[in-house]
Amino acid sequence: MELLPLLFLSFCFLTLSGRTFAAESGTPVTRVTVKEDDDAILPCSLDTNENIESMLFDWKKEGKQVFIYNNGTHHNNDFEDQSVEFKGRVSHFPEELKHGNASIRITDTRLEDKGNYICIFPKSQSGGIRFHIELAVGAAPEPSVTNLDETNDWAVLKCDVKGAYPKPTVEWWDSNNQIIPSEEPQVSKKGERFYVILKTTVKKTGRYRCAATQKEIWHQAHTEINVRLNEFPVGWVIATFVFCVLFVLVLLYLLRTRVCNYINGLQAAREYV
Ligand SMILES: *[C@@H]1O[C@H](CO)[C@@H](O)[C@H](O)[C@H]1NC(C)=O
Ligand SMILES: *[C@@H]1O[C@H](CO)[C@@H](O)[C@H](O)[C@H]1NC(C)=O
Repeated sequence: MELLPLLFLSFCFLTLSGRTFAAESGTPVTRVTVKEDDDAILPCSLDTNENIESMLFDWKKEGKQVFIYNNGTHHNNDFEDQSVEFKGRVSHFPEELKHGNASIRITDTRLEDKGNYICIFPKSQSGGIRFHIELAVGAAPEPSVTNLDETNDWAVLKCDVKGAYPKPTVEWWDSNNQIIPSEEPQVSKKGERFYVILKTTVKKTGRYRCAATQKEIWHQAHTEINVRLNEFPVGWVIATFVFCVLFVLVLLYLLRTRVCNYINGLQAAREYV
């Protein structure tokens, strides 16, 4: 039952960003969530909307240099001290500078890009304005499902989620939108990524769905499988029953005809005597 709202939320993946407050400092933190390999736009705008084309702003991530803009020069044409991991992947929006907008775009987002960013205007009045942006990056692979083993009465289904981040919750659902019992999930980790295998045994023909949910990034992916078991063959039982009844009826009819003929024969013989 929980599935439907989450399915809807999965469409929000790319556009999701919201403002929360860091518990300790009380500074506003803008949270941006993005899927691995997609582009991330980190927002930063002066409330005054003043033109910042001739100003200086600086983007940093946990001490690393991400992007500097200074009166028309920026990382992509001049500055040398940009952190290697961001080389060639960060750009700003020149047309937006007039409106006080210092947002940047990071292309081809990787899991390692997740973390805390600050956007600083060091030369502004009051000794520098800072904006805090938290970037969450998710890896959300589709689950793959297989039918491992099958008899007439049951089938063992396996769901494989490979290389997800953050750790997904994996569940098997039936076509009535009920979670069905399954074995303990087998979870392993390589680097940051999680690998989850979840097996279940089903005893009814039907459509089953394996869902991987990552609440932190508001994402859910699922894959379905059809299972056809040779359950009790009701149709054949009815057909056989009907056939037997007809057979007995025909037999009785034939028998009756023969007995009548026999009796008629006897009577004819007696009259003759
Ligand atoms: C920005 O650059 C222009 C020319 O490149 C220069 O005339 C101007 O003084 C500079 N402004 C600041 C604030 O450094
Ligand atoms: C700043 O520019 C970016 C890129 O065009 C845009 O997505 C964002 O909404 C702008 N921010 C504001 C406050 O206008």
